[in-house]
Amino acid sequence: MTIEAQKSYIFQGKIDEQVPNVLKGEGVKITVEHNGVTQELIDGVTGAAVGALGWGDPDVLDMITEAAKVTSYSYPAYIGNKYSEALAKFYIDHSPEGAFASALWCGSGSESNENALKIIRQYHLEKNNVKKIKFISRKTSYHGFTIGSMSISSNPRTATFKDILLPSEQCPKMEVCYPYRNQKKNETTEEYVARLMTNLEELILKEDPETVAAVIVETLPGSSLGTSPPPPGYLPGIRKLCNKYDVIMMLDEVMCGTGRVTPNGGLNCWENFLTVEEGPDIQTVGKTLGSGYVTIAGILISPKMRNVFLEGSGRSMGAHTYSGHGFNCLVALKIQEKIQAQGLTKNIFKMGNLMGEKLKKTLEDSPVVGDVRGLGGFWSIEFVKNKDTKESFPLALDVTHRVQDQCFDNGLTVMGNQGCNDGTGDHVSIAPHFIVTEEDIDSIVTILTKSVGEIVEQLKAEGEL
Ligand SMILES: Cc1ncc(COP(=O)(O)O)c(C=O)c1O
Repeated sequence: MTIEAQKSYIFQGKIDEQVPNVLKGEGVKITVEHNGVTQELIDGVTGAAVGALGWGDPDVLDMITEAAKVTSYSYPAYIGNKYSEALAKFYIDHSPEGAFASALWCGSGSESNENALKIIRQYHLEKNNVKKIKFISRKTSYHGFTIGSMSISSNPRTATFKDILLPSEQCPKMEVCYPYRNQKKNETTEEYVARLMTNLEELILKEDPETVAAVIVETLPGSSLGTSPPPPGYLPGIRKLCNKYDVIMMLDEVMCGTGRVTPNGGLNCWENFLTVEEGPDIQTVGKTLGSGYVTIAGILISPKMRNVFLEGSGRSMGAHTYSGHGFNCLVALKIQEKIQAQGLTKNIFKMGNLMGEKLKKTLEDSPVVGDVRGLGGFWSIEFVKNKDTKESFPLALDVTHRVQDQCFDNGLTVMGNQGCNDGTGDHVSIAPHFIVTEEDIDSIVTILTKSVGEIVEQLKAEGEL
């Protein structure tokens, strides 16, 4: 049988369509080739908020060469390597003292969340809390694409697979934290947070606290909701309820963590919102950990959880062939050391906030920009058909991907997503490399503003505005 010539041999997205292929990257720029045309773009979203050091960093070449020379594969369940240990120690040492005591390195954010669910389950078993099997997470959230991580997610993609996920009774969803839409006009932030906490407490009670294993939230929600920062008191409120009902508090910082949104040059996004005493019991990370050079993500375990294991079986069950992969861990460690040495997490926090302020100004008068929100190196723009009523565009109009494509044509990558408004709603996200300069920020803001303006003109011409 002969195989017909295909446009693509990759089974992802549009199966027989050739997406642009990356040729190279240099600093904050990326060069792609599509249909024979080569184009250079500013990588405004670094894939999916993955890049930190910048592409083609010459030091990384040395790091990779060195790592290839000194590492050898071993099966981590019985032969470890000192580089996974060193990376764990680095993360723990660069987090507030007492926040974390142990780590497990995996290949992806989904895999990390998948493992975290099992670690949480085993934690409760170690304490003989056998009934704790429910994972409360949030409406409009994304935690990955494996069965477990999809089960705790809530977005249009999870709907497709709902019949093969964990039973919905085991994964109750709490209200989304979304001040732009859900904080009432006459409600103070304090009152809004109190309402959300009442909702969560009622949910825990309804489910029976003895069956609730964990509350899981993204510290700064990314692709599903679009970087809506938690208001003051929100995360501490979750912490209090978790303490009250002996429930594990898990933060997913796969997209927002590891320096992308850290106020003090550290690694954790929650340091913006929580004291170390209020910190998570378990946390997942990924993306910028390897800065796109190696596939690495992980789970950080608090002393509280580690101690329960130590006082119990002393063992964490489960192993993946490539967990704690020595080569990946060593490259990630060297990348993180360079990021720290050059103060790049501080740079992205400052430059990202500057970008947010500039976008707020340049998009203020756009008839379709309802909200510009974010923090540090992670921002989103939500598009609406009507700024007064906050009505979303019909999904079929696909405004977000039209903006994404327009930005692309104009030389900038951004990430478009739909569904932030309970299934409808359009937003694009921006998450540049940690090395961005003010000049780069200005280019991002200029191209994005221009592109949104061009889509507005198209929508007007089509009678949609
Ligand atoms: C918050 C969050 N958690 C988990 C994941 C899954 O990570 P991965 O795509 O590496 O499996 C993502 C991916 O975007 C994410 O944004």
